Amino acid sequence: MAEIAVLPGDGIGPEVTAQALRVLAALPLEVNAVELPFGGAAIDLTGQPLPAETLAACRAADAVLLGAVGGPKWDHASPRPEAGLLGLRKELDVYANLRPTTHGDVDLMIVRELVGGLYFGARGVRDDGTVFDTCEYHPAQIERVVRLAFELAQSRRGRLVSVDKSNVLDTSRLWRRIVEELAAEYSDVVVSHALVDSFAVELAVNTASFDVIVTENMFGDILSDLAGGIAGGLGLAASASLGDTRPGIFEPVHGSAPDLAGRGVANPAAMLRSVALMLERAFGRGDLARVVFEAVEHALHTRPTHDLGGDATTSEFGDAVLASLELGVTA
Ligand code: NAD
Ligand code: IPM
Ligand code: MN
Repeated sequence: MAEIAVLPGDGIGPEVTAQALRVLAALPLEVNAVELPFGGAAIDLTGQPLPAETLAACRAADAVLLGAVGGPKWDHASPRPEAGLLGLRKELDVYANLRPTTHGDVDLMIVRELVGGLYFGARGVRDDGTVFDTCEYHPAQIERVVRLAFELAQSRRGRLVSVDKSNVLDTSRLWRRIVEELAAEYSDVVVSHALVDSFAVELAVNTASFDVIVTENMFGDILSDLAGGIAGGLGLAASASLGDTRPGIFEPVHGSAPDLAGRGVANPAAMLRSVALMLERAFGRGDLARVVFEAVEHALHTRPTHDLGGDATTSEFGDAVLASLELGVTA
């Protein structure tokens, strides 16, 4: 029995998560999916975005499936919903966030460091009123995510680009040195380095030329939205946040989309592709992952949602996935 901690969260999070649960229920896989309060919804219930019970259930699960958190209602809350997401990633030590983009001849994978850098460094307010956030990396934090990226490149097309800002930042110079040192151990991988500003242009213009991209937390946040946007929009971009032990967190790249929330029109494809990543990575069911991925592909062509120029609602898209899923699973 696969134990899944389901965190629907806020805005369109619960709307896309509902479709994920329908799809999971239709698969020949025994799952126990337990929904837990998280994000703004949990703040409303308990005052905390990551209640102790939610964290405990996530720790005990085989995988965490997460919708999205945040929204205008909690923009001035303390703590904010987003702090719950960062806390969960840190607690589960999911240091590698895999953000794949597949679209036409594009097949790339961004490996984003997820529990270090500017998001988790020292922060505060000085006596003169200066506010600071600090980018910090320990060498071991860089080494583990870069190793994972090299190994991923070995299993794919053997090419790795490491993205940094080594012309300015000491953390980036450390990052680049570690990549260069590790390159000797992965001689079958062709590795190159790029500076993040000009790399953003390369990614936008020559998207199909990339295989694996590895970068620090903040650069990865920005570049992965860009990659998602190039390949059809945030409604399609899935991710897997992995550590050395279970559970991983499977989460769309997009947020709670307050502009769409409550209208039932969000594209659930990013969430359903995250389910496919979960089937593959958490449950070793690459076979079911492929079936789900292909059912989503089919629905994207036959019943596109508003963001793709179609008129399907979130649940109509789910209907289309379920319809082709039945054919795929029994085929
Ligand atoms: P967003 O990703 O929520 O939305 C950006 C744009 O993409 C919007 O126009 C939205 O309508 C569109 N979009 C996003 N998902 C879509 C989908 N499934 N189908 C169709 N269109 C979709 O980013 P934002 O507006 O910058 O942030 C809104 C809130 O979400 C903020 O509170 C932010 O902190 C939070 N956020 C949470 C996560 C997460 O929980 N993992 C990720 C990003 C942002
Ligand atoms: C994402 C989001 C989060 C991040 C926010 C909501 C904390 O933008 O998952 O990409 O910056 O990591
Ligand atoms: Mn983001």
